[in-house]
Amino acid sequence: MSDVRVLSCIQPTGEVHLGNYLGALRNWVSGQHDKDVFHGVVDLHTLTVIEEPGIAGDATLRTAAMLFAVGLDPDVATVFVQSHVPEHSQLAWIMQCNLSYGELSRMTQFKDKSAKRSGGFVSAGLFTYPALMAADILLYDTEEVPVGDDQRQHVEITRDVAVRFNHRFGDTFVVPEAVLPAAGARVMSLQDPTSKMSKSDESDAGCVYLIDAPATIMKKFKRAVTDSDTGADAVRYDRENKPGVSTLLDINAAITGRSPQQVADGYEQYGKLKVETGEAVVEALTPIRERYGDLLDDRGELTRLLRVGADRAREVATATLDRAHAAIGMLPT
Ligand code: TRP
Repeated sequence: MSDVRVLSCIQPTGEVHLGNYLGALRNWVSGQHDKDVFHGVVDLHTLTVIEEPGIAGDATLRTAAMLFAVGLDPDVATVFVQSHVPEHSQLAWIMQCNLSYGELSRMTQFKDKSAKRSGGFVSAGLFTYPALMAADILLYDTEEVPVGDDQRQHVEITRDVAVRFNHRFGDTFVVPEAVLPAAGARVMSLQDPTSKMSKSDESDAGCVYLIDAPATIMKKFKRAVTDSDTGADAVRYDRENKPGVSTLLDINAAITGRSPQQVADGYEQYGKLKVETGEAVVEALTPIRERYGDLLDDRGELTRLLRVGADRAREVATATLDRAHAAIGMLPT
């Protein structure tokens, strides 16, 4: 294992779906033996939008269980819950004081999310979210942050604030880099194949959750949107003109380790492609669903694993926060 430090985090905002798995989590698992990886379940981030009492903890526990179920090994990877490491909140404040109102106003995610809630409650936390994310990253002397395109601007602002802090107060933080996740598949919705698979889909029919029962998964694949082409080359990879078929081919390819074109060569009919893709997904997800169930049945063990992760995370995080406080010249306790 190299000692290059890698960090990526997941929000506990709902059930983990196939897009999360094929796009990110599967790569976290295969990457854990190559580098020194930290993965947080970032519950504080979800407070920016949460309105209901009592759901945060449960969602956090389920997401953490899923990280272990997909194969993160607690002896190898540091898996922790963000709020168990209070240094995140502490450094986030310092980050807020080193970012400007103008910079935060330019974040596209804030503009999108606040526009969607227009007229509703737009929390100040939604605005300062990038400061918390910068703290997540900088606390661990992170060198590499594997994130999708939608998070690149957040890594950019993290670099900016690290460089600014180092310039103002002296060398303190490692300046991280966003890295392209290793060939993560971009999984589209089975019902609206021009947008990403997402738990905020209108209906659940387009989104396959890792804990869906096999019959549910098969039903979702059988009902997947395709088109009305017929003929020998109806099954071909063509994102532009055949988004539904291409989505099925993408998923099948990602699961079976082939290219979408290779998969397409084996099919002439949509029905067979749907069924066999569904079956391949069921086969891949069954052991994950079973491990997930076992983990949730043994909450004591799950709690212990998260305590181990938090202890390891805190070892690094307290040292970094101390360095930041010292650099600023705050009064030692
Ligand atoms: N903002 C990320 C998302 O919405 C989650 C996240 C929080 C994150 N902190 C992070 C990702 C640090 C990478 C590194 O998906």
